[in-house]
Amino acid sequence: MSGYVLAIDQGTTSTRAIVFDGDMQVVGKGQKEFTQIYPRSGWVEHDPEEIWDSVVATVKMALREAKLTAKDIAALGITNQRETVVVWERETGRPIQNAIVWQDRRTASYCDNLKRQDLERVFTRKTGLILDPYFSGTKLSWMLANVKGARTRAARGDLCFGTIDTFLIWRLTGGKSFVTDATNASRTLMYNIAENAWDEDLLDILRVPAAMLPEVKDCAADFGMVDPEIFGGEIPILGAAGDQQAATIGQACFAPGMLKSTYGTGCFALLNTGADMVRSKNRLLTTIAYRLNGETTYALEGSIFIAGAAVQWLRDGLGVIGSAAETNVLAEKADPTQEVYLVPAFTGLGAPYWDAQARGAIFGLTRNSGPAELSRAALEAVCYQTRDLLDAMQKDWKNGAEDTVLRVDGGMVASDWTMQRLADLLDAPVDRPVILETTALGAAWLAGSRAGVWPDRDGFSATWKRDRRFEPDMDEKARTAKLKGWKNAVRRTLSEG
Ligand code: G3P
Repeated sequence: MSGYVLAIDQGTTSTRAIVFDGDMQVVGKGQKEFTQIYPRSGWVEHDPEEIWDSVVATVKMALREAKLTAKDIAALGITNQRETVVVWERETGRPIQNAIVWQDRRTASYCDNLKRQDLERVFTRKTGLILDPYFSGTKLSWMLANVKGARTRAARGDLCFGTIDTFLIWRLTGGKSFVTDATNASRTLMYNIAENAWDEDLLDILRVPAAMLPEVKDCAADFGMVDPEIFGGEIPILGAAGDQQAATIGQACFAPGMLKSTYGTGCFALLNTGADMVRSKNRLLTTIAYRLNGETTYALEGSIFIAGAAVQWLRDGLGVIGSAAETNVLAEKADPTQEVYLVPAFTGLGAPYWDAQARGAIFGLTRNSGPAELSRAALEAVCYQTRDLLDAMQKDWKNGAEDTVLRVDGGMVASDWTMQRLADLLDAPVDRPVILETTALGAAWLAGSRAGVWPDRDGFSATWKRDRRFEPDMDEKARTAKLKGWKNAVRRTLSEG
C-alpha cells in the first residue's frame, strides 16, 4: 500500500487539504477561504454548504498538485475548528440553518442564567469545561429553540447534530457514517469526559434529545469510506481530532508534562496530563487530548480568543500597517521607554479570566506612540496571555510543568522577534519545529498509523525536529516590571475591574 495520506484541516477562516507522502513530507496542498457571516453584533456564522464546497475543492487541488488520484491515498485524517455547531436533516443532509461558530456570543445570557441556577459546577465536574458561550451545548440548545419545529423533529430523530468533523464525515461517506471522535465530543458541554459518554443529565438541562447525537469513537478508528463519486475513488477515513488536539499530536506531545501552543486567529495551549484528569482551580479547561485504543489522555487547556487577530486588526481595522509581517520590523524599532499595553479583549477575555463582557483597551499612549509601539504591544499581548496560561497551568499541575519547554506552531511563530519575546516573558525555552503544518500532520498521523503505512507513536515522536530553540534572555527586573504592567492593564480592562 502507498504511504500517501490526505489530511483535511477545516479551520475557522479557511479550509486546507494536504497530501503527505510516506516520509511525511508535504507533496500537495489546497487552501480556500470562505465567508464569515456576522448577522448581528457578537454573532458569527458559517454556511455549511460553502464549507463543504471548500473541502471538495481543496482536496481536488491538493491531489492535482501532488499529481495523484484518490486511489493513491491510503488514508484520510480530518481535523477541524472545534465547538462550531451544525444541525442537518437526516433524510436530505440539508442544514436547518447556518452553523453557529465557536466565536459566537449569542448564548451569553443563557449561560448566565444557568450559572444563576448554580449549574456551572455540574457542567465543570462532568465535562471539564466552564459555562461560556464558546462551547457547543448552549448553541445547539439555542438552535433547537429558535428554528421552527426543530425540537420536535430532533426528538423524532429526524435531525442530526454535529461539530464540523461529524458533518464532513457524514457528507464524505454519503450519509453512511454519523460519528465523531472523543476530542470533538469533549468540547460540546454534553460529553462526560470521565465516563466517555454523552451525559443524560446535561442533555436534560440543555433540552437536547439524545437521538440527534453521533456515535463517539477513538481518534484513530474506522470512520467510514469516502464515497467514490466525490473524488473518483474510495478513501478510508481513519483519523479525526479537533484542531488543537491534532496540533498536540502533530507536535508529538505524547508524554505527560509536554506542552504546545498554537498561534492562529486565537491561541490555544494544551498541557498533556496523561491519564490524570486534572481539575483546574485556575479557570483552565480539562479536556481530552486524544483517545487511542480506548485509552483516554487528558490535557489542561488555556484558550485565548485573540492572537493573530490583533495583528489583523492593526492592518485591516486601524490601517497602520500594510502586512502582518511588518509588525516584526516595527516592534524591533519601537521606543523601549514607552510602556504601551494592548489588551485585545475584542470578544471578551478567555482563559484564565473568562470575562465575556470585557472589551479591548490600550494603555500608556503618549504623543510619541505610533505604529511601532502599537505593533510591539499587539505582539507582546500574545506573549503575556501565554504567560497567564502557563502560570495557571503551573498552579494547577505540580508534576513538572515548571520545567516544560513550550512547542509552538501556527502562523505567528514565523516571527523570530515574537518567539524571542515569548521566551523572555515566559522565562522558559520555546521550541519551533521544522514542520509547521502540525495540525494537518497530527490528523494525517492518526490516519496513517491506523492504516499501518506510517510509524507508530514512538517512531513518529522520533521524527519531530526542532528548527530553533529560543532561550530566555531578559533580565529579571525588566521582566517583572513588564508583567506587572500587563496585570495592571488587564485589571483595568475587566468588566468588573
Ligand atoms: O476552539 C476553537 C479552535 O478549534 C479554532 O481553531 O485554528 O480554526 O482558529 P482555528
